[in-house]
Amino acid sequence: MKKINSKRLFFANNAGKIYIETYGCQMNFGDSEVVLSILKNHGWEITQLPTEADLILVNTCAIRDNAELRVWGRLKELKFYKKKNPALIIGVIGCMAERLKEKLVEKEKAVDIVVGPDAYRDIQKLVALAAHGKLAINTLLSREETYAEIAPVRLDKNGVSAFVSIMRGCNNFCSYCVVPYTRGIERSRPHDTIINEVKELMLNGYKEVTLLGQNVNSYKDNEIGFPQLLEMVANLAPNLRVRFSTSHPKDLSDDVINIIAKTPNLCKAIHLPAQSGSTRMLELMNRKYTREWYLERIATIKRVVPNCSVTTDIIAGFCSETLEDHLDTISLMKEAGSDFAYMYKYSMRPDTKAHKTMTDDVSEDEKTRRLNEIIATQSALSLESNKRDIGQVFEVLVEGESKRSNLRMYGRSSQNKVVVFDRLETQVGDYVMVKITSCTGATLLGELV
Ligand code: 5AD
Ligand code: SF4
Repeated sequence: MKKINSKRLFFANNAGKIYIETYGCQMNFGDSEVVLSILKNHGWEITQLPTEADLILVNTCAIRDNAELRVWGRLKELKFYKKKNPALIIGVIGCMAERLKEKLVEKEKAVDIVVGPDAYRDIQKLVALAAHGKLAINTLLSREETYAEIAPVRLDKNGVSAFVSIMRGCNNFCSYCVVPYTRGIERSRPHDTIINEVKELMLNGYKEVTLLGQNVNSYKDNEIGFPQLLEMVANLAPNLRVRFSTSHPKDLSDDVINIIAKTPNLCKAIHLPAQSGSTRMLELMNRKYTREWYLERIATIKRVVPNCSVTTDIIAGFCSETLEDHLDTISLMKEAGSDFAYMYKYSMRPDTKAHKTMTDDVSEDEKTRRLNEIIATQSALSLESNKRDIGQVFEVLVEGESKRSNLRMYGRSSQNKVVVFDRLETQVGDYVMVKITSCTGATLLGELV
């Protein structure tokens, strides 16, 4: 039991100001919006200033060790806010909360509450416990929770593009990955609540939604599978852009590829993490596909939707990866011709299959060397991909002013590439046609046509 502070006791029955900080993937950002919605319903007021908050929540990521190190660093800093305001309640929520449970409070005394990804409805109760100086931890995972009917408080600033969570958890148990342990088993959100959320977004002026899940292709709500859900959302309005992420190569069906081809407002962009180009590694990773399967999926995408961009995730230096395996990854990247990639050094996570049965035997230096080769390969591929767009015209959904100059705007093409162009009369939320005139590896530059 901690010392009870009378100002703090006030929050056992009353709301104050909440400040939330989010680390990690888009799912986490979506969860923060759900948490804020829940707290708002209990009367809490959202603040952007940690200095004026009564409750600070840190929504955390556990996917790699460095993600956790960042959070530990931040928790140390947050202690100073507590020195200035002893009534302040600090909570750790999300994947690190789930993984570490009470260890978090033991190691970082400033932490008052710990809430796992399926326990957010309990958060007010936990705040009240903390206000009474009691241990406030809920990391129970659920088989059903999808926060289906909770309308997230939108934190995305542009008001044009929003993320909509369609499922939670993951059943794939890739041997390197902690997600199935921190986010629990896979469950799909009822399709009518998804459709309602998208309709509400459209009423509020949003022009683009990205349907989110760890493995969206296995979405299932009775007879509605992912292809049906995609069609239902895309059919809501012809000027609503629809994206989705992430696809698992083993589950990306021809159905989905065909629907993308025939539906103009379904964006021509697929995020299809390869992880490795070596079939031996893929088997050790428990990915359930081979190098040939992955390349066949890419070939089918390119054949059926020639203007589709494909992006990927790559892990360097997984357990027992040889130089030959690594070179297989480089050659797969070149053959697949990914337009963009997220690239990581392997980080062994406690409790995963790899942790229990394999050895993290590629040295840190060698991981760095391999990762640098992977990054160099991708940089060249991204530049090539962008150069191919020069001279072409793309429909761009305008998201905001360019960071460098308010005389220029930026937006995205259907292929999810960032396009920068002279502002003229354009407004945020407009669809404009832009002819690409030059590029860098990361951005297309063009002029309105
Ligand atoms: N180490 C490095 N990268 C990982 N990823 C998942 N787990 C790990 C890990 N232990 C990567 C995968 C996944 C992305 C979200 O994070 O590439 O697709
Ligand atoms: Fe992790 Fe694999 Fe699930 Fe993705 S599909 S979240 S990499 S276990």
